[in-house]
Amino acid sequence: MTASQERGAWGSRVGFILASAGSAIGLGNIWRFPYIAGENGGAVFVLIYLLCVFFIGFPVMIAELTLGRNTEKNPVGAIKTLAPGSSWKYVGSLCVLTGFVIFSWYCVVAGWVVGYLYKTAAGHFSNLEDPSVTETIFINFASDPWTVIFLTLFFISLTGYVVFRGVKGGIEKCSRILMPLLLVLLVLLAVRAITLPGASEGLVFYLKPDFSKIDINVILAAMGQALFSLSLGMGTMITYGSYLSKKDNIPTSAAWVCTFDTGIAILAGFAILPAVAAMGLEYGEGPGLIFQALPSIFGAMPGGQWFGIGLFLLIGIAALTSTVSILEVPVAYMVDEKKWLRKKAVLVTCSVAFILSVPAALASGASEFLSNLPILGKDFFTVISTLFGPISLAIGSLFIAIFVGWRWTVSKAKEEIESENVRFVIGNLWNFTIKFIAPVTITIVFIYTFWNTFFG
Ligand code: PHE
Repeated sequence: MTASQERGAWGSRVGFILASAGSAIGLGNIWRFPYIAGENGGAVFVLIYLLCVFFIGFPVMIAELTLGRNTEKNPVGAIKTLAPGSSWKYVGSLCVLTGFVIFSWYCVVAGWVVGYLYKTAAGHFSNLEDPSVTETIFINFASDPWTVIFLTLFFISLTGYVVFRGVKGGIEKCSRILMPLLLVLLVLLAVRAITLPGASEGLVFYLKPDFSKIDINVILAAMGQALFSLSLGMGTMITYGSYLSKKDNIPTSAAWVCTFDTGIAILAGFAILPAVAAMGLEYGEGPGLIFQALPSIFGAMPGGQWFGIGLFLLIGIAALTSTVSILEVPVAYMVDEKKWLRKKAVLVTCSVAFILSVPAALASGASEFLSNLPILGKDFFTVISTLFGPISLAIGSLFIAIFVGWRWTVSKAKEEIESENVRFVIGNLWNFTIKFIAPVTITIVFIYTFWNTFFG
């Protein structure tokens, strides 16, 4: 058995693209994108978001995939191989740590989704029209300690099972079936939302840019969202790239992943914002948009229960293909660097992540202390998901761009991309974006996020 057979490899190019798109498409697209767009001026945000995907996300994704394929390693191993004995390895460690922590809080929200899938199926939201009632339901739900802990544990175990099955048997098979299903469900949902009476105002908000709404906050919100949504900055794409074959065309694969991810986010906007307008709700409803406002919309429309089930099932599926990719980072690190068996790596990471997830799960009302931390004045979930979310992903992406652009050097990366006669058509543009545009703009995102969190 060769080394690469032992580590596992993608069964086909389509399988790789579907799995990577599955990583990118998650709560970030369906839960976060519509409400951030709603808070940041709608169409104008969407426009800037698209620019960020193209000029920052796409080049950093190429950089991560190339690093992974060249070294066939996890983030720590990849950087150690290319810059042995240097402090650059700590960038890899940051990636692994970020993966651990994001996994723990992400599974809390994914657990809520499972809880809401059950609630919707059980008819808890039938004949509900008043958003304040659904708000109470959400508060009661999120502050019931045993329910949220159980749901989080459920989601962690589910992810652990898929990752344990290995690259080809687990992740790829799962993505192959689930991703196309996700697309179909979302299109159906968007069609239903757009045809609701009163939805057109939401469509105008979403599609007609009001340039007077552009400010630095909108630009930075779009950038932060792009990094999170494309799964960049913690080595997910380094790890996924390490299972790629030399024959694969990295820029083309990255372009497909960016297109799928952005397409799903835009579709989610079509499913949610027109419905919000139709119900006379606020676009800037915030993170509770899905959990509080949508059940009331479903409650108010004929057959709404089915749309509710479809929506929460869809979000749960999308979240699973993302948590699988997040967990894969620390697991690949342990398998490669610590020479652990995959089974042991999965068991240990899931157990540690579960312990970490408990305070995050209890921070939405279940524990008085965790819901309002002394000194910080914020809840534990907000603190941990900001630090190990936009902040650490921005730092990670920044260093990955600098590492590939300046330390490993663009010419070596290009050699890897162009191996086996692949033509890198946009090579010069990538050179410029990875060395200059991406690091500079990501620095601004990082400073802004830091400032906003601690002094805002
Ligand atoms: N991109 C995923 C989402 O949108 C989240 C994620 C972030 C996954 C970082 C992997 C790495 O939900």
